[in-house]
Amino acid sequence: MSFPVHRPRRLRRTEAIRSLVRETRWSTAGLVYPMFVCPGSGVRTEVGSMPGVCQQSVDNFLEECREVEQLGIPAIILFGLPEKKDARGSEAAAATGVVQRAVEAVKKANLHLIVLTDVCLCEYTDHGHCGVVQHGVVLNDPTLEILAEQALSHARAGADIVAPSDMMDGRVGAIRKKLDSHGFADVAILSYAAKYCSGFYGPFREAAQSAPQFGDRRSYQMDPPNVREALKEVALDLEEGADMVMVKPALPYLDVIRAVRERFDVPVAAYNVSGEYAMVKAAARNGWVEEQRVTLEILTGIQRAGASIVLTYHAKDVARWLGRKA
Ligand code: PBG
Repeated sequence: MSFPVHRPRRLRRTEAIRSLVRETRWSTAGLVYPMFVCPGSGVRTEVGSMPGVCQQSVDNFLEECREVEQLGIPAIILFGLPEKKDARGSEAAAATGVVQRAVEAVKKANLHLIVLTDVCLCEYTDHGHCGVVQHGVVLNDPTLEILAEQALSHARAGADIVAPSDMMDGRVGAIRKKLDSHGFADVAILSYAAKYCSGFYGPFREAAQSAPQFGDRRSYQMDPPNVREALKEVALDLEEGADMVMVKPALPYLDVIRAVRERFDVPVAAYNVSGEYAMVKAAARNGWVEEQRVTLEILTGIQRAGASIVLTYHAKDVARWLGRKA
């Protein structure tokens, strides 16, 4: 049976009907807003390639957290710019580190925000790689203990969820073991399980001052053409104790999000990364696309592909478009 019995346009006739039959609905409930904290006080520096996104000292960061909470965004993920960088990324696990102090501040302020922290060394090492380096090679196993210590320091500060983004093998297991043996069995792990070596991280590296000083990240981040390998990464991270998994970036990897969603019964997150954000902002500023329309279309696509959690710099804009006020 086909036309004229079937007329799909019947269900597109009015906005009320379209809304009734809509398959993917937007709310702020699954959004995570990424934020960058730096030392000092009174600092708020906008990142040139990411309009609206700032590097902020803890005081100003806390102020923005209040706004984020009022906008109905449930969660934030923190990245830190340390005071000093060194070869081993020593500040990453310091109790007095900038991320640790920021987490403590949010928790002390009693804000109803789920606090995620990014666990990785690239922001803290002078060479800008995500692990320890010897003779130009990023070493896997010696990096694990440092990452585990970093995660533990975040948990001690009050983080609800730690999110390792380094792509070392075995880091989820090392972090789980460390947290459990120190009384943090309730701190969850969201692993950046399928994290690709992507050109779309460019603006983030300006924001986090974390560009590698030599070489690239191809020996640890995933090769963009692979999807079966992503499923293997996810399976391994879940075996090691990850509670949730992430695909990153989002837009060029919608098929990976879908494949992970279909294969595994855990919450799937996607990171709508800095370069994806910057492209929309730049095009919108030039009047080449309608910002609200394309942003919601992109975020709907990421959700439709299977991600129920979306990390996005657009989170505050989306909340406002949905009528939330701060
Ligand atoms: C740290 C990290 C990166 C991002 C999140 N965590 C950068 C990288 O791997 O180079 C990128 C996020 C973004 O581009 O928005 N390893």
